[in-house]
Amino acid sequence: MPPFDIVIRGARIATATDLFTADLGLRDGTIAAIGRNLSAGRREIAASGYVITPGGVDAHCHIEQLTATGLMNADTFESATRAAAHGGTTTVIPFAAQHLGSSLEKVVADYHAAAERGAVVDYAFHMIVTDPRCEVLRDELPPLVRAGHSSLKLFMTYDRLRVEDEQLLDVMWAARLHGCMVCIHAENHGMIRWMSRQLLERGYTAPRYHVVSHPRYGEAEAVNRAIAFSALLDQPIMLFHLSTREAVEVVHRARGEGLKVFAETCTQYLLLRSTDLDRPGIEGAMWMCSPPLRETADQEALWHGLANGTLQLVSSDHAPYRMDETGKLVRGPNPSFKEIANGLPGIELRMPLLFDAMVSSGRMDLCRFVEVTATAPARIYNLHPKKGTIAVGADADLVLWDPTAEVTIEQGPRHDNAGYTPYAGRRVRGWPVMVLRRGEVIVEKGELRAAPGSGRFLPRTGGEAAKPTGRLAPELDPARNFGAVLFD
Ligand code: URP
Ligand code: ZN
Ligand code: ZN
Repeated sequence: MPPFDIVIRGARIATATDLFTADLGLRDGTIAAIGRNLSAGRREIAASGYVITPGGVDAHCHIEQLTATGLMNADTFESATRAAAHGGTTTVIPFAAQHLGSSLEKVVADYHAAAERGAVVDYAFHMIVTDPRCEVLRDELPPLVRAGHSSLKLFMTYDRLRVEDEQLLDVMWAARLHGCMVCIHAENHGMIRWMSRQLLERGYTAPRYHVVSHPRYGEAEAVNRAIAFSALLDQPIMLFHLSTREAVEVVHRARGEGLKVFAETCTQYLLLRSTDLDRPGIEGAMWMCSPPLRETADQEALWHGLANGTLQLVSSDHAPYRMDETGKLVRGPNPSFKEIANGLPGIELRMPLLFDAMVSSGRMDLCRFVEVTATAPARIYNLHPKKGTIAVGADADLVLWDPTAEVTIEQGPRHDNAGYTPYAGRRVRGWPVMVLRRGEVIVEKGELRAAPGSGRFLPRTGGEAAKPTGRLAPELDPARNFGAVLFD
C-alpha cells in the first residue's frame, strides 16, 4: 500500500452521528483510513485539541448571478468560492438562473463556463425556472436533469421571476416525471405588492419598510399552497429560506402527515432581526433580504424547528450586492425599499457563525452542527456520501476547527466582493484554521492555496429525496381513469 498523502492525527472527529478521537489517513483525494496509530503520511498534521468536521455544503447561494432587472451580483465564482473556502465550505450549490424568454439550456451552459473558470470549491447547480414554456419543460429540462442538474427553484413572488400557480404545477409535474427536486421561494406575491403600494403611497420608503411589506402571513400562506401542490402531485419539495414561526408550523404539520416536504432556514434568520434595518438613512439596506429578517420569537421557532427536524438544513442564501452604485444603490443614492436589490453576503461566515451559535453556545451539539451544515444538504441533494460526511471512501473535504479561538468579526472587506458583512461586531468562539478539499489543503494560516477553476462540477441524480412517495392525491390515482391517462 502506498503511504498516505496526509495523516491528520488525534483530532476530535465529528460526523452527524458520532464524535470520536482518531487519525485520518488521506490518499488520492479521499479518506482512506480512520483509526489509531496510522502509518506515516507524506505530510503529518498534528491535530490534538482541534475538532474536525466535514467541509460545509452550502446548498443555497447566488454566485455571479444576474437579477431579473439586469443587475449582476457582486461575486464571481472565484471570489464567492474563495470566501466559502475560508469559512470551511467546500461544496456549494448556486443557481443557473433563467430569465423570461431565455433558453434554460443556454443559461446552464453559461453558468458552467463561469464556474469552470473561477470555482475553488466543488459545485452543483439548481436551475431557476422563470419561463416554463412548453419547449423548455419538454425539450430542455429532461436532458439537463440527465446531465446532473437534478434540482430547480421556482419563485412564487418577484415581478419578473415568479410563476403562476398553474405554471408551478406544470413544472412540478415535469420534475416528477424526470426525478428532480423542486425548491420554492414561498411568499404571497399579491400581499407583498399590496403592502408595498400602501407604504409607498404614504411615503414610507426607508429600508425598514421592506420588512412590513413582506407580511409573515404571506410566507405561511405560500408555504401552505406549495405544500398543497406537492401533495396533489406527490412531488417532493424543498421550502427555501423559512423565516417565520407560522411557516415552520405549517411545515411541521405537513411532515407530520407524512408529506415529502423539506425545509431550510438561513444563518441570517437565526442570528439577525428586523430591528437591524432600523438605521439612519439608507444604511438598513445592508440587512435587506427576502424574506426579510424577523423577530426573536421567529428565531426561537426556527431553532426549535432545527432541533426537532422540521427544518433539515441551514444555508447562507449568499446574495451579495455592494453598498454602492454597482449594487444596492444602482437606482441612486436614496432609493425606496422597492428599488434596492435583496440579499446579504454570508457564504464565508455561515459555518463559523453556526459553530459559535450551536456548538460553542451549547445550544446544540457538534453532531447536529455537522448534520445541518453538511450532511443533510449533501443527502437531500444526493451528494452523500461522497460529500457531507467523514467516512472511508468519502472525498477528503475537511475542516480543522480551533474550538477555543475567539474572533471578533470586523467590518470591511472579507474574501467575497460584497464589501461589508451584516455580522460586523459579533464575537464568535470556534474558528476554521485549516480547510481541505479532496485531500488538498486549500486554506492554511488564512491563505488560500487553490487555483481558480480547480473546483469540480458534481453531477447528481435526484436520489432518494426527490423520489415521489407513490401516494398521489385521489384525483390523480393512476388506478382510476383520469390518473391512468395522465401517466400515458
Ligand atoms: O434576498 C434574497 N434572498 N435574495 C436572493 C434571492 C432569493 O430569493 O433567494
Ligand atoms: Zn428565494
Ligand atoms: Zn436565494
